[in-house]
Amino acid sequence: MRDASWYTAIHPSATISPLGTSIGAGTVIAAQAVINPFAQVGEHCIINTHAVVEHDNKIGSYSHISVGAQLAGAVIIGDKTWIGIGATVKEGLSICGDCMVGAGATVVHHITEPGTYVGCPAKPLQRHRGN
Ligand SMILES: CC(C)(COP(=O)(O)OP(=O)(O)OC[C@H]1O[C@@H](n2cnc3c(N)ncnc32)[C@H](O)[C@@H]1OP(=O)(O)O)[C@@H](O)C(=O)NCCC(=O)NCCS
Repeated sequence: MRDASWYTAIHPSATISPLGTSIGAGTVIAAQAVINPFAQVGEHCIINTHAVVEHDNKIGSYSHISVGAQLAGAVIIGDKTWIGIGATVKEGLSICGDCMVGAGATVVHHITEPGTYVGCPAKPLQRHRGN
C-alpha cells in the first residue's frame, strides 16, 4: 500500500492561537477563522470562513464548521458532523458524530443521537411536506 500524506491548508488571515492548539492533517482553515487556545481540530476538517472555534474545543475528524458558525468554549464535536452556516453551540456541550446542525441553529443541550437538528433551541428536524 502506498503511503499518503495530507496537506493542512491555513489561510494567512486565520487566527490560530499558538497556545496548545492542534490541527490535524488534511484540514482546511479558511479566511478569518479563529481557533482559540487549547482547541484541537481533527483530520480532514473544514473550519470555514469566519467560523469561531473557542478555547478547549475538540473537533473530531471529517467535520465541517460552516461559515460564521460559533462554538463557545469547551465544546466537543464528534467525527463527520456538519455545523451549518451561522449556527451557535453553547459552551461545554457535546455533539455526537454523524450529525447535521442546520443553518442558524442554536444548540443549548447535548446532542447524543446522530441526526439533523434545526432551530433555536435546536431540535430534531421534522418534515411536514409529504415524506
Ligand atoms: C438542515 C438542512 C440540512 C435540512 O435540509 P433538507 O433535509 O434538505 O431539509 P428541507 O429543506 O427539505 O426542509 C425540511 C424542513 O425543515 C425546515 N428547515 C430546513 N432547514 C432548516 C433550518 N436551518 N432551520 C430551521 N428549519 C429548517 C424546512 O423549513 C422544512 O420544514 P417544513 O417541512 O415545515 O417546510 C438544511 O436546510 C441546512 O440548514 N443546511 C445547512 C447548509 C449550510 O450550512 N451551508 C453552509 C456551507 S458553508
